[in-house]
Amino acid sequence: MAAKTIVLHADVRNEKGIRNPMIYGGFLEHFHRQIYGGVYDPGNPLSDEAGFRTDVMEAVKKLKLPVLRWPGGCFVSSYHWQDGVGKKRESTYDRTWRVEESNEFGTDEFIEFCRKAGCEPYICTNAGTGGAEEMSDWVEYCNMESGGRFARMRIANDHKSPHNVKYWSVGNENWSRWEIGAKTSTEWGRLVEESAKMMKHVDPTIELSAAALADVDWNINLLKQAGDYLDWISIHQYWDGLWHVNNYATYEEVMAYTAHTEDSVRKVKGLLQALGLENRIKLAFDEWNLRGWHHPHIHMVEQGKTKEEYLYPRDLNDDNTKYTMADAVFSACFLNAMNRNCDVIHMANYAPIINTRGYICTGPEGIVLRSTYYVFDLYVNYVGDVVLNDWSENMPVKTVKNKDGKEEEINTLDVLVTKFSDRPGAAAVVVNKEETDPVSLSLDVDGTGALYAYYIDAPDTESYNDFGHQEVNIKSEYLGEYQQGMMVTARPHTVTVFQIGV
Ligand code: AHR
Repeated sequence: MAAKTIVLHADVRNEKGIRNPMIYGGFLEHFHRQIYGGVYDPGNPLSDEAGFRTDVMEAVKKLKLPVLRWPGGCFVSSYHWQDGVGKKRESTYDRTWRVEESNEFGTDEFIEFCRKAGCEPYICTNAGTGGAEEMSDWVEYCNMESGGRFARMRIANDHKSPHNVKYWSVGNENWSRWEIGAKTSTEWGRLVEESAKMMKHVDPTIELSAAALADVDWNINLLKQAGDYLDWISIHQYWDGLWHVNNYATYEEVMAYTAHTEDSVRKVKGLLQALGLENRIKLAFDEWNLRGWHHPHIHMVEQGKTKEEYLYPRDLNDDNTKYTMADAVFSACFLNAMNRNCDVIHMANYAPIINTRGYICTGPEGIVLRSTYYVFDLYVNYVGDVVLNDWSENMPVKTVKNKDGKEEEINTLDVLVTKFSDRPGAAAVVVNKEETDPVSLSLDVDGTGALYAYYIDAPDTESYNDFGHQEVNIKSEYLGEYQQGMMVTARPHTVTVFQIGV
């Protein structure tokens, strides 16, 4: 019997909502080479007068990076921001990652980087060893015009105008025992309330988040205690947990993860709806990546004693051969999920963007754009900002084995249909998870004009980019004048954006 035609339907009048561009945000932490040797590389001929890598800057600007979260992550839970400002800076010992922190790159440098990159700064504060006063002092330093000791400090540091940092969060993952200054749920609600109170007394215009979880008890207590002061709550997720053992999930195992990109969002969204907060409190997925960062032992009490045990293995994060089309396909499925949940998800931050598991890897003489860089390029530069409700017929499913060796049934395709608020046309995203088989489908989306396919081109599932090795890139193809219902083909192991009349 002939296979039934796969049909993707969407009516351009049937809008789900406008996605917040901050779902394409980023994160940088003082970890390994993200800052020093990453964005900040003074003395390198590729760096500008402020020490920022101009090749990194250009690549980030091409992605129209909307928001950048800093300085951690676990790092922040024993970081004191005053160590990183002023003309005389003393290095300090970073108790989280157990390395010397030069403090050369601090608040003012971060703000300058963001202004040059054209993105909003988003500061995560120290709720580990810090407290309400230190957090609100930081807001004062950044946002008060003049009065106040810390505004005067900023002015004395040659920054006459306020930095006007709009986005702040209280703490990182203080819900976990691996975080310095971990808190119980009750302690957390109290600390967030008192910190939020002081931070908003300094600048009531800031938008404030706090570390949350896909856990009802934790979030209910946080929202009951501090919800009146919060504009956001934050969640994190890494699916292939490589923290202690660097054993990458295979392409097939990663495809199993693609069925779980929305699990956390559904739980938190359901709770916000149950509490009637879904229209007031936004969700920031402010750390996400398929791959957990490799840093053995550091998170647990039984930390490695020698640098061979806990420090040198971090260099394995820099292995560009490991960032393949599995990472690209997963990331496209995740960004589809963020678009689909644009009613409650207003920010998502790829963790990180530079080095470690980021979409850009720096070397002394240049950068590598990893496979995931092209996913963001497609979504930011080719996918629409208005998310449409879509429905489909005969969508195929397939069975894959997950990393635990168990079988899971997944959708073979992950789709999203959008249009543009500022120009005619529509853009349908089709992620084809098949390793080698192309999939043809009918595009039943109203529209006229030229039909183009923009896709990440890669010979196979294991394709990657590295210094002197370029296998992955974006390609385009003119498919003729669009007729509603036209058949198109989605290439295997990649993501394709079909633009109609754009
Ligand atoms: O693995 C890196 C860590 O992941 C970040 O510092 C923290 O926020 C998360 O646990």
